[in-house]
Amino acid sequence: KRNIIVGQSGGPTSVINSSLAGVYKNAIERGFDKVYGMLHGIQGLLDEQYVDLSTQIHSELDIELLKRTPSAFLGSCRFKMPEIHEDKTIYEKIFGILNKLDIYAFIYIGGNDSMDTIKKLSDYAILTGQTQKFLGVPKTIDNDLALTDHTPGFGSAAKYIGASTKEVIRDAQGLTYKKNMITIMEIMGRNAGWLTGATALAKTEDCDGPDLIYLPEVAFDIERFLHKVKELLKKKSSIVIAVSEGIKLADGRYVCELGSVGDYVDAFGHKQLQGTATYLANFLAAECGCKTRAVELSTLQRSASHMASRVDIDEAFMVGGAAVKAADEGDTGKMVVIDRVSDDPYMSA
Ligand code: F6P
Repeated sequence: KRNIIVGQSGGPTSVINSSLAGVYKNAIERGFDKVYGMLHGIQGLLDEQYVDLSTQIHSELDIELLKRTPSAFLGSCRFKMPEIHEDKTIYEKIFGILNKLDIYAFIYIGGNDSMDTIKKLSDYAILTGQTQKFLGVPKTIDNDLALTDHTPGFGSAAKYIGASTKEVIRDAQGLTYKKNMITIMEIMGRNAGWLTGATALAKTEDCDGPDLIYLPEVAFDIERFLHKVKELLKKKSSIVIAVSEGIKLADGRYVCELGSVGDYVDAFGHKQLQGTATYLANFLAAECGCKTRAVELSTLQRSASHMASRVDIDEAFMVGGAAVKAADEGDTGKMVVIDRVSDDPYMSA
């Protein structure tokens, strides 16, 4: 028997299911016997939570619908795979399940942590003489995976962010009769500024775009920021500023940690970064004495269905299929990348 198991991991995107559809369609066309889906990624797999996808997908139409449906159909997880010497039992458990299900290839759709998992599982298989193949499918709105030209999910999020920024700017402009107003838009991307940079897409003939943009890659200087805002207020009554959720001071502290608003750790012990815009809106209201507003696009950035781009959907579908092809041809421990030069996805270690 030659079966495949596929999982989704990390933050969802508008096109994460397009990759799942690509994996499924290609696996069936290549004659694999069964395609299993892990429920909530590797965390679910460890609890033996998986489903035979043929019980969920009955037709070409189902595949097409899946391809166009945002948010993780199988459920996602945040999971950091331990090193083999740290916890060998996790590896033994996973391989026990893979062997029980006659898995030929394990395909993981995700970001940096997921690709790390693929590499570790593949290394373990080679080390212990097991033959399963492990392939990664790139997925993240953050666009922060190395080697690939860009990541599926980013384009749709960028399109949504650009369009939403324009709407926020227009709305704010209508509210400034005899008063100033500062709007702070908070954009996702904990460590990478691509998404916040996409707010500049709002700049078109009929829209100036955001007045200031702050990325996590550049240390944030709050005094310089205040000075710039005050200078701008002398020239215009409505200012729109885009900030990444992850902007940090030169000493490494997140801006959202400066006040009490955004500084919290969730029930799973993860530091949550919401609150950057709220903190800055409070700060500017006090310093500039004008109306301020915080706008967080939050999860809409990654799961707004009406903004999924056609190219993004097709690319996500294609990289899913390419992972199955690569596994079928014997590759392992690799991630599919998008190569703009050849215009074809190709494999890379
Ligand atoms: O990794 C993608 C992402 O959407 C980041 O942009 C964001 O910082 C993070 O996920 C939020 O994760 P969660 O929804 O788990 O809080």
